Amino acid sequence: MQSVPALLNTEEKPLRLILAPMEGVMDGIMRDILTSIGGFDRCVTEFVRISQTVLPPRVFYRLCPELKQDGRTAAGVPVFVQLLGSDPHLMAENARVAVNLGAPGIDLNFGCPAKTVNKSQGGAVLLKTPDHIERICAAVRHAVPEAIPVTAKIRLGFDTDDHFEDIAESAIRGGVDELTVHARTRRQGYRPPAHWHRLAELNQHSPIPINANGELWTTTDVATCGRVSGCHRFMLARGALCRPDLALSVRAAIQGAPQPSTSWDDIRALLISYLERNASTYDPRYACNPTKQWLVYLQYYYPQAGALFARVKRLNQFDQMLTALKAPAVTEPAELVDAA
Ligand SMILES: Cc1cc2nc3c(=O)[nH]c(=O)nc-3n(C[C@H](O)[C@H](O)[C@H](O)COP(=O)(O)O)c2cc1C
Repeated sequence: MQSVPALLNTEEKPLRLILAPMEGVMDGIMRDILTSIGGFDRCVTEFVRISQTVLPPRVFYRLCPELKQDGRTAAGVPVFVQLLGSDPHLMAENARVAVNLGAPGIDLNFGCPAKTVNKSQGGAVLLKTPDHIERICAAVRHAVPEAIPVTAKIRLGFDTDDHFEDIAESAIRGGVDELTVHARTRRQGYRPPAHWHRLAELNQHSPIPINANGELWTTTDVATCGRVSGCHRFMLARGALCRPDLALSVRAAIQGAPQPSTSWDDIRALLISYLERNASTYDPRYACNPTKQWLVYLQYYYPQAGALFARVKRLNQFDQMLTALKAPAVTEPAELVDAA
């Protein structure tokens, strides 16, 4: 494994690791589990869609249950509320509500590629109109107290990355405190590679911190992204679902400390807790699907997850799923994939 310290000098600028917003995956339960493992400085909620109204508190509480505990996960990691919409006034009013409910920060989504979202002028479609991004950022920045950070998440562009600098500068002019860049265009979707090098110049000259995002699956990816982009701040998304101790691993690698050894049995215990908490928080009838979804991610790092997924993919009853998760593996545990 390439050593991270050689590539990422964190003496001048501290490392920051943010757990990404992921609609339908990264809910309060998953944030709680992943931040309890450690290594993260912040989380961002799934997007709260703002279309025509100022939303009632119950919507914010549903998407950000942490608002009932000071806007932090049980491990004490702050959770920013992400808003997605295009009306500056409505975005500002909803941001105000979230902050009054206890949100420690607001994040603005300018990256969602979903057609339904883009049709209603939200998410990545706004990358086509940087001036409008600036207006939204400015309206939200003015609406909430200065002490509350307002951050934005963008992509490199819509169809091409030709206007990336313009987009980033618009958000910065709008007054955001930090900018996260998913280093792909909307057209590039989620396909590798992520173009980390495009962040280098922005990161060098930006008056605000830049968080790099996209294709960060391993400690080596984070180190390489850091070297190529100059960033010391990273947002981890799918990689953190595949390898729940990724943030901890990055920190250990930087300090030259031993890597965390999260065994398959540790992960299985987390899966059981995830299933049970989904059943008790939502509905036992719907608790199996999120568990299967997580297994699909986990199998990239833990081959045992693939074998388990094959056994449970047709199960839809909570009790059956719980029994399957508790059963010892049929085969000998395979070696971990060397993802570093
Ligand atoms: C299933 C899924 C849901 C996502 N939901 C959101 C979201 O609600 N808000 C957001 O800003 N980004 C969302 N994203 C984008 C991720 O936060 C991240 O930018 C993207 O996955 C790139 O990082 P990665 O290559 O490390 O996964 C989502 C991505 C996925 C795969």
